[in-house]
Amino acid sequence: MHDVVIVGAGPGGYAAALFAHNFGLSVALVEKERPGGTCLIRGCIPAKQWLHIAEVYTTVSHAAEYGVVTSQPQLDWSAALAKKNQTVEAVVRGLGGLLKQRGVEVVEGFGKLAGPKRVEVSGANGVTTLEAGSVIVATGSHARTIPGYTIDGKQIVTSDHALDWESQPGSVAIIGGGVIGCEFASFLIDVGTDVHVFEMMDQIIPGSDPESARMLQRLLQKRGVKFHVGAGVGPAEVGSSGVVVPAGDEKAEVDVALVAVGRGPNTEGVGLESTQVELDRGFVIVDPETMMTAEPGVYAVGDIVAGTPQLAHVGFAEGIAAMTHIATGESRGVDYDAVPRVTYTHPEVAEVGITEAEAVRRGIEVETSKHFFNGVGRAMIIGQNQGHVKIFSAKDGPVVGASIVGPQAGEMIHELMYAVGWEALPTEAAALIHAHPTLSETIGETLMSAAGKSLH
Ligand code: NAI
Repeated sequence: MHDVVIVGAGPGGYAAALFAHNFGLSVALVEKERPGGTCLIRGCIPAKQWLHIAEVYTTVSHAAEYGVVTSQPQLDWSAALAKKNQTVEAVVRGLGGLLKQRGVEVVEGFGKLAGPKRVEVSGANGVTTLEAGSVIVATGSHARTIPGYTIDGKQIVTSDHALDWESQPGSVAIIGGGVIGCEFASFLIDVGTDVHVFEMMDQIIPGSDPESARMLQRLLQKRGVKFHVGAGVGPAEVGSSGVVVPAGDEKAEVDVALVAVGRGPNTEGVGLESTQVELDRGFVIVDPETMMTAEPGVYAVGDIVAGTPQLAHVGFAEGIAAMTHIATGESRGVDYDAVPRVTYTHPEVAEVGITEAEAVRRGIEVETSKHFFNGVGRAMIIGQNQGHVKIFSAKDGPVVGASIVGPQAGEMIHELMYAVGWEALPTEAAALIHAHPTLSETIGETLMSAAGKSLH
């Protein structure tokens, strides 16, 4: 008997498991592969490694602009793939070590609920049954596809395959201009692959600030990405030498189609029907204050949760909230409005809080302040002075959201995370000074504008 049995060792599950030591609870963590989940093994970590490889390549290609003379770099794809694998191996091993150190019992195999407090694990040595005081379901998500795009892993692939390509594709059509689509477009164009992106909505990264999305699209277009926005695709025509992706009057003939149209929940086959857990289109409905499902003592966290962002850091926070409720009975719901959202393209797009469109939906009157990076010294020094900082503040009220496109936006967004989370007034935030020369001072300038007195 364990205090808690967790099914799935991705960010949601492993964070819950690691956090349990704060309360002295005994935990079994059930996992069919190695602990790490999508994020560590086939998501955030490997994708960001490839993006960094592209950044190194770009930096060396442009070195002569800084008087550093090199020959044109060559991308050794196998060495780059090995670097990606090395990094994944290091983080997965690190996690394994930490779980061990914390006394978490990792149980290898496929976990399935057999009633609310019982988990059957099918592993190499047959089926083991675990009894638990509480259960956390954290089974994650999988890449979805659309009709006409049967994933074969070779010519029609998802990010799972694309992170492990053994050689560089000459041309790729990306279906879906969301976060995954744009990150792959950025990485691939920078290493010299021909890239098309098909997005059916009227902007890329739907849900983000439209002006920031347009800015990213323009910057990627300038580097050669061909966007087809507002374009639903027809079925792919797969031939021996490539794939044709049609969309209205346009079509792209490429080596491979990469489908990035969202991720579905892994809630089939995990025995939820043996409980009172309720689903909404396959996603688990929870009380967001506690992460408990309709079945008392059964919790859900991470990508399977209905209506919350599919982000590793949201998974961490939900795992912590669930474990806290199990151990103490306290409700410590996640503040979803203060969660940073980062697209790790070059340049990055980072947002926190609400957008102008969301403010309208909530009936909040917002004022927008904006500064560009083009006159910012530090941005000019590093040769990345394209982009902007936008801050949304409630009329006569606090900062409620922000959208940044630009160098290191994903790092910078965190100071605005505090502003949003702590409901800082622009005047309060603008009273503090930023170091010069930094990229972050662009935020300082924008806050000064939001406070009604701009400087530059
Ligand atoms: P997404 O929901 O971000 O984007 C999918 C895109 O595909 C949307 O823009 C949608 O309009 C488009 N689409 C859907 N059907 C289409 C069709 N038939 N033709 C053309 N376009 C179509 O999902 P994505 O990019 O697959 O990512 C999955 C999840 O993983 C997301 O929730 C995302 O937040 C998360 N993720 C987060 C990352 C980060 O935080 N940096 C990186 C990668 C993924």
